[in-house]
Amino acid sequence: MTHSPPTTAYPATRLRRTRSTRWSRDMVRETSLSPANLIWPLFVTEGEGVEEPIASLPGVSRWSVDGIVERAKEAAEAGIACIALFPNTQPERRSQDGAEALNPDNLMCRAIRAIKAELGDRIGVLTDVALDPYTAHGQDGLVDEEGYVLNDATVKVLVGQALNQAAAGADIIAPSDMMDGRIGEIRAALEAHGHHNVQIMSYAAKYASAFYGPFRDAVGSSGLLKGDKKSYQMDPANGDEALREVAMDIAEGADSVMVKPGLPYLDIAARVKQTFGLPTYAYMVSGEYAMIEAMAAAGAGDRDAVVLESLLAFRRAGCSGILTYHALHAARLLAKG
Ligand code: PBG
Repeated sequence: MTHSPPTTAYPATRLRRTRSTRWSRDMVRETSLSPANLIWPLFVTEGEGVEEPIASLPGVSRWSVDGIVERAKEAAEAGIACIALFPNTQPERRSQDGAEALNPDNLMCRAIRAIKAELGDRIGVLTDVALDPYTAHGQDGLVDEEGYVLNDATVKVLVGQALNQAAAGADIIAPSDMMDGRIGEIRAALEAHGHHNVQIMSYAAKYASAFYGPFRDAVGSSGLLKGDKKSYQMDPANGDEALREVAMDIAEGADSVMVKPGLPYLDIAARVKQTFGLPTYAYMVSGEYAMIEAMAAAGAGDRDAVVLESLLAFRRAGCSGILTYHALHAARLLAKG
């Protein structure tokens, strides 16, 4: 949609007129934010009745499967549409080839089944496809002797991982690995196995970002990772290339796409939405969450207002929704009005 600038001049036009009262501001507001626009990422850990706070993500914990089910219930009650699951795999289950990702009884699959058994379709379950929570080296794929992440060999494992999650009941498969060609392969495998209504939300434009630090603590890969992910995640300098990534993933069968991180890449999210018009999501990542929490802890701002303003910005940019660790908090703030 294009808007032409006002053609009349001051004082015939006073843009402050419509801002002068609350009712009028409410009336002309162009975008809205609701709990249905939020996706809440949750970290799963082994055990029973376990809560492990994550130091670099103040206010966020890992929960054992029973706790995850409780969080999912809270989310559904708050009107959140979907949760996203990430496992903190036990160190002894991590390996060079990340084979635990294919285990039908791994932590993820147990969490998916437990949530679906309790909540059914009251909430969507999105699952991350990538090998980093399962590999001993912390990379998202299989590596050669030099540590280079192999594309086609990795895609084969990712297909197995996606099928494993779909069989456990995942609603949305979200590949975050940035291998070329994985959306097409995963889509074909889902179709072949009768998972016709399992969605794919592609992390289409995922950048090699410095904002992922706390997440890597949360899934236990930060101590393992040597080097970086620049040979597969995107260069933060590039925008046009993001559109090529998205175009390919759409052609391969993605139902929706994601841009990640969030606020520093709002221009990318807006361009994606304007260019392709499909449901576009943004992931306001762990480092972004931590920045807001640090600001609030330093007494430098109103946490609630900053959270809601940030999330609204994604909606204005054209995003259908936002993955955010603030999701439950924000949904409750929105309910209060
Ligand atoms: C890994 C993955 C990452 C995130 C989501 N999936 C980290 C990475 O690529 O190293 C980051 C999320 C966050 O920082 O909140 N495949």
